[in-house]
Amino acid sequence: MNIPFNKPYVSNSAASLARQVLDSGHLSGNGVYSQKCCQWLERESGCQRAFLTPSCTAALEMSALLCEITPGQEVLLPAFTFVSTANAFVMMGARPIFVDVCPDTLNLSPESLAKKITPQSRVIVPVHYAGVACEMTAITALAEEHHLTVVEDNAHGLAGTFDKKPLGSLGDLATLSFHETKNFCCGEGGALLVNREDWVERAQILQDKGTNRSKFMLGQVDKYTWVDKGSSYLLGELPASLLLSCLHERQSIQKRRHEIWQRYSLELTSWCSQNGILRQDIPAYAGHTAHLFYLQMPEQRYQLKFIQHLRERGITATFHYQALNECPMGIQLGGIAGSCPVAERAARTIVRLPLYAQMTDLEQDYILDAITGFHFD
Ligand SMILES: Cc1ncc(COP(=O)(O)O)c(C=O)c1O
Repeated sequence: MNIPFNKPYVSNSAASLARQVLDSGHLSGNGVYSQKCCQWLERESGCQRAFLTPSCTAALEMSALLCEITPGQEVLLPAFTFVSTANAFVMMGARPIFVDVCPDTLNLSPESLAKKITPQSRVIVPVHYAGVACEMTAITALAEEHHLTVVEDNAHGLAGTFDKKPLGSLGDLATLSFHETKNFCCGEGGALLVNREDWVERAQILQDKGTNRSKFMLGQVDKYTWVDKGSSYLLGELPASLLLSCLHERQSIQKRRHEIWQRYSLELTSWCSQNGILRQDIPAYAGHTAHLFYLQMPEQRYQLKFIQHLRERGITATFHYQALNECPMGIQLGGIAGSCPVAERAARTIVRLPLYAQMTDLEQDYILDAITGFHFD
């Protein structure tokens, strides 16, 4: 059997929606399908405004622009995250401050965060890893105390909750990813959710190359012009239509992903405890998204061995992020190897199992057999 790590979800209605876009004559951004996706995201997350972007990376860049980061200001983020969480702010001159994560969720540790806040701190970027909420009560309390902006990197967490509130509604801004590996996808894509009304107009300008084109489209000005910084941060209508077809199937996609996640969890319980494997913990406050199922091997030497064992049986499993504080660029920016031990250990021991909504029970039987057939020496 050949089992990939991921299969992008393509809804049955995707082709007919894409045909409608092709026939409509509107392929660029901000058309009917983009607007429908934004309305869906605004309704589901309760944000002031949603903007579709070409990626989560682009939405993070828009966030850094909205925060008006100036060189030397500090942005606090988990050491265990994707490079874009840091790069978007680094490109604006910010200094990334790498914070260690909690061992049970691999999310930003509020205790480590509190120790790293300085007078130069400007922004906190909690990442809801695997679609499991960070401890947002503690994080937002620190942000309020020190007057910091909160940008939720919610690349994994559309449909997740914290204390029953949607992820993406808890910070000043939030970003989403619709990359093909995500639960809801359109190839490459993302969104910025703006929760501050006073930032909505500027977000619109930044997204449209620094122009007031949206005012022109509404007939509020007779020509549009250059009014601010900005870039090309719109998603085209074809990917927007793909995304809309997935969003419409939210219930069934999530139901199936949770079934698969739950089965991994139940059937691997005793094997994990017999072999000292650390599993992700879902705190009571988190409604997770079944985005990832990962195991943390008891020792570093088992990570690649276990991946290889599965590969020999046709199954693709994979490691995840390298701790940013010990990457070459992280070190250049002040990161210190050894300073975020939980993140560094996760980078060296984590194995993510295949998880996609189209996975059959037979495929999962085969994966589970292969997993429990691995022997620790
Ligand atoms: C936490 C996190 N943030 C941001 C990104 C970047 O997403 P995109 O590929 O949509 O730019 C990723 C990518 O998977 C991610 O894991």
